[in-house]
Amino acid sequence: MSSSSSAVDLISEFAADVRAGLGHAGQKTLPSKYLYDDIGSMLFEVICLLPEYGVTRADERILRGHADEIAERMGFPAHVVELGAGTGKKTRWILGPLCRRQPTIYYPIEISPAALEICRQELASLESLTFKGFEGTYLKGMEKVGAQRPKGESLAVLFLGSTLGNFDGGEAEWFLSQVQRSMMPGDALLLGTDLVKPLAQLLPAYNDSLGITAAFNLNVLARMNRHLGANFDLSRFRHDARYNSKASRIEMHLVSEVDQSVSISHCDLVVSFRKGETIRTESCRKFKLDEALQMAKRTGFRCKAQWIDEEWPFAVSLFVAV
Ligand code: AVJ
Repeated sequence: MSSSSSAVDLISEFAADVRAGLGHAGQKTLPSKYLYDDIGSMLFEVICLLPEYGVTRADERILRGHADEIAERMGFPAHVVELGAGTGKKTRWILGPLCRRQPTIYYPIEISPAALEICRQELASLESLTFKGFEGTYLKGMEKVGAQRPKGESLAVLFLGSTLGNFDGGEAEWFLSQVQRSMMPGDALLLGTDLVKPLAQLLPAYNDSLGITAAFNLNVLARMNRHLGANFDLSRFRHDARYNSKASRIEMHLVSEVDQSVSISHCDLVVSFRKGETIRTESCRKFKLDEALQMAKRTGFRCKAQWIDEEWPFAVSLFVAV
């Protein structure tokens, strides 16, 4: 079963977000969720395979290497929600031991329908798993799951891959507190966070030599052409990934190569760019080990356990809602 808002609603929401992000002076921005349509999500799957991008492999090493222990310390929840499930490949490691113990209901929340379908197939062989996919954004999905979940049965939320790092500044904390509000005391949150590491390791991860990350980033321009009647010339923009040390994050930008204007007809908008001007499309925050801990404490969780990958510094933390 999957449900979603109407296509018309999604397009007008997209148009409103584009107007808000591009229709003003100063730094232009776009919400990073628009990178993850079917094409973007598949490009991200390829990014996860790149030798330069160690994030996914680190996350997976932890989940695979400690699957039984993680399942046990989560308390073998009967209901498992995943925010941004992608293709569900990593999640299999955790769902395996849970399903061996008891029938488990899995609610992947995923914005790309294609990824959600692959996820369904990926997990189809887990016999005691019931798959209840939700196509849409995280908080809308969380609300639905919260309403369906029987009181008195345990639930865990998986938020892996360091997706929390996409939220700027105070937004991450706000988001965690929203998630916490739809949980019950004792419910578990398994949170993956990419840790601060040397720039020599970090920059190539977001500026790979095959140009997959560049294609992933430029796709958001193509998406505005497809759905919002825009006329971006992709050859006049280039991908750039920069480290913002003050905010401790990688920022992905699309840099205008020339002075130009672009019209976005569904937004009634003409956007002008100076040569060198950028649109910031994604932030990927890098955490210090105790930052995620502090953040979780401030949003109504206590830390129960933490696993760290040394090869590509990355943490998976198990929090419990208080
Ligand atoms: C999916 C947000 C975890 O921040 O590393 C990877 C996204 N963007 N390469 C990340 C991403 C470009 C990724 N997250």
